[in-house]
Amino acid sequence: MAWSIKNMTRNRLIGAVIGGGLVAVLGAAWIIIYAGAYNIAADAPHTGPVYWLLKTVRERSILVRSADIPVPTDLGLEPRVASGAALYKEMCTACHLAPGTEKTELSQGLYPPAPALRDSKLSAEQQFWVIKHGIKMSAMPAWGVTHNDKLIWDMVAFLRKLPSLTPAEYERLSKLAPDHDDAMKGMNMDGAMPSPTTH
Ligand code: HEC
Repeated sequence: MAWSIKNMTRNRLIGAVIGGGLVAVLGAAWIIIYAGAYNIAADAPHTGPVYWLLKTVRERSILVRSADIPVPTDLGLEPRVASGAALYKEMCTACHLAPGTEKTELSQGLYPPAPALRDSKLSAEQQFWVIKHGIKMSAMPAWGVTHNDKLIWDMVAFLRKLPSLTPAEYERLSKLAPDHDDAMKGMNMDGAMPSPTTH
């Protein structure tokens, strides 16, 4: 009996210490956040732990969510690659650049930076998912809001070819686009994206 009362008191004490510690940690975190202590500026890189956390969340989220997406078997066909090249030139180069092009003012100010996609380590289904849905808290837009899956796969088809393309081949392909009316359906005359409700 005496033993079990002692035991209960000890358990209560441990509970109080853990609970108190948790409240103190959350309170301190809130004060740090509320005081604006974390610099959200794009010209100041993340601290190591925050960078690790965001990178891991992004990688796991993309991996898990794209796992069951079936990849079309015709991504190697030239019309698909050409359509993707034209779309890429139109919509992606300001941030991701292209074979033979210089850095843009836009690309240099991005944080996280837009990676050179010829070095992408992502699989086709992961690239499809990222292009369709975009990435929160980065400049990567969700192109699925304005483009159907076929056009997004065309862009993936182009990205799979990109590592082996010379600037001249890139130029040739991007001018070869078969029927570009389809691809441009989501764009205004000046190239700006309309609101998603227009189609
Ligand atoms: C306004 C700038 C911007 C534009 C335009 C843009 N992207 Fe991105 N994109 C980004 C940024 C920034 C990232 C990195 C996000 C991150 O690291 O969390 C990214 C990431 C990606 C990735 C994942 C890269 C990897 O391998 O890890 C793919 C694929 C991609 N973009 C494709 C495209 C395509 C295709 C287009 C055009 C249809 C496009 N992006 C247009 C900014 C942009």
